[in-house]
Order: sequence, then structure tokens, then C-alpha cells
Amino acid sequence: MGGAGLVGPHIADLVVHEAEEVVILDNFARGRRESLASVLPTGRVSIVDGDIRNRRLVAEVMQGIDVLFRKQLTLTLTRVMGSNVRPE
Ligand SMILES: NC(=O)c1ccc[n+]([C@@H]2O[C@H](COP(=O)([O-])OP(=O)(O)OC[C@H]3O[C@@H](n4cnc5c(N)ncnc54)[C@H](O)[C@@H]3O)[C@@H](O)[C@H]2O)c1
Repeated sequence: MGGAGLVGPHIADLVVHEAEEVVILDNFARGRRESLASVLPTGRVSIVDGDIRNRRLVAEVMQGIDVLFRKQLTLTLTRVMGSNVRPE
């Protein structure tokens, strides 16, 4: 979750050769597909463009998943401090 940001691609790099399949869910609010360029050629990585707050999608994506790395960062600290917006 949030695998296309700063930290996520490094985790993908580490686990892609151990895992049968790596699924990356990211809404690309801040993440970039190019960050995953090193793992995509393995053919074991699939990218789902979607929001972690979409429960149905998350339930779908989690089918058959054994290990979850949640690195999504929905709000930046400055936005949190400046508003009452809360993730759904
Ligand atoms: N970068 C660091 O040095 C560092 C250090 C320690 C801990 N962390 C923690 O690791 C986590 C990730 O940090 P990062 O630097 O990779 O952040 P980042 O903003 O680069 O990555 C977060 C990713 O989450 C995605 N995202 C945001 N909201 C989403 C949503 N609702 N649904 C799906 N995807 C969504 C963004 O598009 C982005 O790709 C954070 O919790 C951060 O606090 C980061």
C-alpha cells in the first residue's frame, strides 16, 4: 500500500526476488510509476491504481496476500496541522 512513493520501491526491490507476486496499491497522489522501473521487468509485480480508503478494492487486492507493507502517507504533516481533515 503506497508502494510507489519514496520508501515503497525500496521495499519492492528487497522482496521481489523472494515473493511469488508483489502487488502495489497506490493512488499516485505523490507516487510515480517510474520509481518502480527496476522491479517491473521481473514480471512479478502488478500495480493497482487505487485508494487505500476504498475498502472493497483493498479486500480484493488482499486476496492471497501473505505479507502487507503499508507505506501510504495520506496527509502531509503540514496539511494535518493546518486542517481538521481526517482520512475516511
Ligand atoms: N521517507 C522517510 O525518510 C521516512 C522515514 C521513516 C518513516 N517513513 C514513513 O514511511 C511511510 C512512507 O513514507 P514515504 O516517504 O515513502 O512517503 P511518500 O509520500 O513518498 O509515499 C507515500 C505513497 O502513498 C501513496 N498514497 C497516499 N495516499 C494514498 C491513498 N489514500 N491510497 C493509496 N496510496 C496513497 C502516495 O501516492 C505515495 O506513493 C510514511 O508513513 C512515513 O511516515 C518515511
